Amino acid sequence: MDFSSDTSAPAHPLILEAMARASQGMAPSYGADDWCDLARQRLRDIFETDLEMFLVSSGTAANALALSVFCPPTGSVICHEEAHIERDERGAPEFFTGGAKLQLLGGPNAKIRSEDLKAALAHRNPNFVHETPAAMLSITNLTEFGTRYTAQEIAALSELAKGHGLHVHLDGARFANALVGSGSTPAELSWKSGVDILSFGATKNGALGCEAIILFGQARERYPELLARAKRAGHMPAKMRYLGAQMTAYLDGEFWLERARHANAMAQRLAGLLCGLKSVTLAQSVDGNEVFAHMSDTLFHQLVENGLKAYRWHDGSVRFLCNWSTSEKDINKILLEIS
Ligand SMILES: Cc1ncc(COP(=O)(O)O)c(C=O)c1O
Repeated sequence: MDFSSDTSAPAHPLILEAMARASQGMAPSYGADDWCDLARQRLRDIFETDLEMFLVSSGTAANALALSVFCPPTGSVICHEEAHIERDERGAPEFFTGGAKLQLLGGPNAKIRSEDLKAALAHRNPNFVHETPAAMLSITNLTEFGTRYTAQEIAALSELAKGHGLHVHLDGARFANALVGSGSTPAELSWKSGVDILSFGATKNGALGCEAIILFGQARERYPELLARAKRAGHMPAKMRYLGAQMTAYLDGEFWLERARHANAMAQRLAGLLCGLKSVTLAQSVDGNEVFAHMSDTLFHQLVENGLKAYRWHDGSVRFLCNWSTSEKDINKILLEIS
């Protein structure tokens, strides 16, 4: 009954097999290998556009490098107060940008509301020397509360941001989980809605440790800068073929979508089960693979004593994360422990 995190899940065997296959003979280093090329091609096909991409091994590296490409040390990044870049990255965005600020907005369900962004931008005055003007907007999909932005919501936020000259970053550590129930295409959930740079996660959905930083449209011009910053930060491993092999296998056919569909279906099943209990209410809508539920301490401790692994979140709810390897058995066990 381990629902502590999708990062606690193992890597999928097909990813490991792809790495083993890539581990034969000599191959060009630093990203010049065939696997990185194929991963780039697959991403171009999936996003239906001519993009640039660079692979890193953690979501924090993807976010911090992505922000550093567009936000100067004297600028700021507007994000939600629940954003992973604010709460969980130990100042990596500030460090990689050379000192930029994060400018926090509130809003229910860990989502930025248009009216709040509008108000924040209305006061922006880059020529006022005492201000730290916003240079970027960063949003997360799935959000840190497991909720989803629609393509229309992203487009509305991007339009506001771009109207003030900001670039738009999307933290897509769980992009696949956001995508599969959305009814939108990958393009609609990203560049067609104004996203310039995307942290495209694979680790939480079956990879061993691999995320793509993707540059769309004009943002592609910053690709040399991204490479230089990755190298300087020590995020350009020589044997990048192993990252390329992971991303290539991840994007092979429906693999990444099927894994996310499974994790999301398990979350729906879990939510249904929890909702059936008198003392439990959902804290957030379940739009992906995460379930946040309010429950009494007595019930939570009973479950933990019987083997549940899940955290009480800072909003007081209990966070359950499903992943590609979660089984119906794992979920049914919870019911057994309660009854
Ligand atoms: C929304 C989000 N972004 C980024 C990250 C960072 O990923 P990593 O732990 O690989 O640095 C996480 C990790 O949990 C996350 O949930």
